[in-house]
Order: sequence, then C-alpha cells, then structure tokens
Amino acid sequence: MKQTIEQIDVAGKRVLMRVDFNVPTQDGVIKDDRRIQMTLPSIKSVLDRGGKLTLLSHLGRPSGTGFEKAFSLAPVATRLGELLGRTVVCSDEDKTSDIVLAENLRFNSGEKLGDATYAKQLAKRCDIYCNNAFGTAHRNHASMVAVPEAMQGKPRVAGLLLARELQYLDDAIANAQKPFIAVIGGAKVSDKMGAIENLLGKVDSIIIGGAMAYTFLVAQDIEVGASLVESDRIEDARSMIAIASASSTALLLPSDHVCAQEIAEGTQVHVSAGSIPEGMMGLDIGPETVECYSNVIQNAKTIVWNGPMGVFEIPPFDAGTRHIAQAIAQATRQGAISIVGGGDSAAAISAFGLEEEMTHISTGGGASLQMLEGKGFKSVAMLDDDV
Ligand code: 3PG
Repeated sequence: MKQTIEQIDVAGKRVLMRVDFNVPTQDGVIKDDRRIQMTLPSIKSVLDRGGKLTLLSHLGRPSGTGFEKAFSLAPVATRLGELLGRTVVCSDEDKTSDIVLAENLRFNSGEKLGDATYAKQLAKRCDIYCNNAFGTAHRNHASMVAVPEAMQGKPRVAGLLLARELQYLDDAIANAQKPFIAVIGGAKVSDKMGAIENLLGKVDSIIIGGAMAYTFLVAQDIEVGASLVESDRIEDARSMIAIASASSTALLLPSDHVCAQEIAEGTQVHVSAGSIPEGMMGLDIGPETVECYSNVIQNAKTIVWNGPMGVFEIPPFDAGTRHIAQAIAQATRQGAISIVGGGDSAAAISAFGLEEEMTHISTGGGASLQMLEGKGFKSVAMLDDDV
C-alpha cells in the first residue's frame, strides 16, 4: 500500500500533482471529461486543507518541438475550473496561484525521454510530489519517474484516483473471490497475449471475443473467411490453447458469429455457426455465444473485462458487447465484483449507460492491461509506502 495525499499535511505547501488529463477532444471541445472528474477528490483535498497545486499532464501525442494549439491543455483548465467553481490558470510561468495547470508536458521532448534536467525544472519550488495519473502509470516519462527521483527526500505520495485503481486492479485481483473470470476482447490478439498468458492458471475461465478470436479459430483450423487475422500470431494462439488445456483455466472461444461483407451501419448480416463463409468478415459474437458467455458470467464472483466483443461502435455489431455488458451488470447486482479496463470497454459501458452498474471502471487503457499482464509500474514503486 502506498501513502496517499490524504495522509499527509499539505497546509502552506505546493503539491506537484501528475494527473492524466489525456481526454478525447475535438476542435478544442472535450468529448468525455471522466478523467478530469475522477481527480476532483484529490484536488479538493489539497485545496480544502490550505495547500497549493501545480497540475501536470500530457494531452495526445504532439511532436515535442514546442507549443501546438491543437494539443493545448487550456480547454482542460477551463473545464476543471467549471467543475471546481473557480478559475484554473493554464500556464508554465505562473508559480503563485493556488491552482495552476501547466501546459502539455509533451510540448517538451524531455518528457518522453525521461530527461533529468527537464524533471528538475518541473520539480522546482514544489514541496510534495503526488502521482494521480493511473492512465500514464505504464510510461516511464520525466513527470512519472525523473520528477519523483528529483524530489527524493520530500513526500512522494499516491493520489486518491491512483490508490483506488491499484486497490481494484491489484488487490482485488490478487485476492479474487472465485469463480474468477476474465472477459478479453478487442481487435488485436497481439495486444492481449501477455494478459491471457498471465491469467492462465489464475482465473477459472477466459472468455474471448472481438476480432482477436479469429486468430484463435485459425489456430484450430477453423475457416474465418475475410475476418481480421494476425498471421504472425497463429502459432502463439495455438500454444496458448495448449497451455490452457493443461491448466485449470477454461479458454472459451466463440461458437457462432455475426458476419457481413462490409463494416457499415445497417448492412446485411449473416449469423454463422462454426466457420465463417468465404468473403465474409466476423464482426461480432453470435447469439449462441452470447448465451454461453452470459451463463459463465452469471455464476462469477469476480469479473475482469478488457476489450469489446465486436465492432460495438457500429450497429448491429454492438449487440454482443451490449449483452455481455448487461450480463456483467446483472452479475454485479447479484454481488460480483466487476472491474472494467479503460479504453474501448469503458467507452462501450458508457455508450450503453451502464457506468453505475460496474464496481470499478478504470481510467487507464494501456495501464490496466499492463496490470493484467502481471507487471508492476516503476512510477508507482517510487512512491512512499504506507508504513
Ligand atoms: C492513455 O490514454 O492511455 C494515456 O494517457 C497514455 O497516453 P499515451 O499512450 O499517448 O502514452
């Protein structure tokens, strides 16, 4: 357990808080402010106890050669100000206001390089370091690692968002109540191989959906038509199936598929059991698979979900993901713990209006996946332990 910002005295001190305000924006308009909302308890905790705040974040992937308006954090400062009911300045120069959001860290190439000189510059005149950026925990960038290094000897603590994420993605999984199942989906099997490998032998079942399932089906010599397949991963999928069959984990693959010739809203679909006809692409799990997976989910006590079951953004290929989300919501109502990885699965939950039904929805996509892979974070290891 790491010491949290709430456990230390902040009165009259300046807290350097690394947050992850990498929110989706379009023409300067924030499309989803959940990552900002989730930092409010930590921010308020500092301000209410007489502390001052310098907030650090990145936004998107600018070139690293200086200011680029499209990646400015100014709209985020405005939104944060609205949520707090006070002005939040977006500036690299202001070192005196009670709350300041520094401009996008990635405007300086030193951020991604983990540069120590840049880190010292960021750390200057700050008394406490607080990591509240779970979404960025897997990046060893300057603000995540070199800054706490530069602040050695001063308190270096976890924000409440980070602490909550670690509680669910670390403790709750390590001490999971059984049956413990993982629902893994998404387009690319290469992204999820590490997580599947780590979960084999730990969970009772791994439910596979999304386009990644087709690489597994090819590994079993099942025809998948024009579906997305990662041919350089077929061997890995085959060995994963072999490891699973020798382990205590059941690896479940879809038995029927919603197929079409093109990915377009309202296009003609065909449900096919077993193999997928030539020229067709599998774009969602079929009704028989939904029923089988839902039964497994209903009996689970701990559920980890990462990745959609189909192209959920485009109806009718959203049905599989929607039914699985509803089954997880139902299991949660019956007392199961449900932990949803960030990224696409969080977006799906929000599109279906089921946010309130899950135990925990992570703010981190890549970071939550790294936790499922069983790997820790250097950025978290550097924080003070709660002794
Ligand atoms: C994320 O959204 O996953 C984090 O903010 C990290 O962003 P990055 O993948 O650009 O490093």
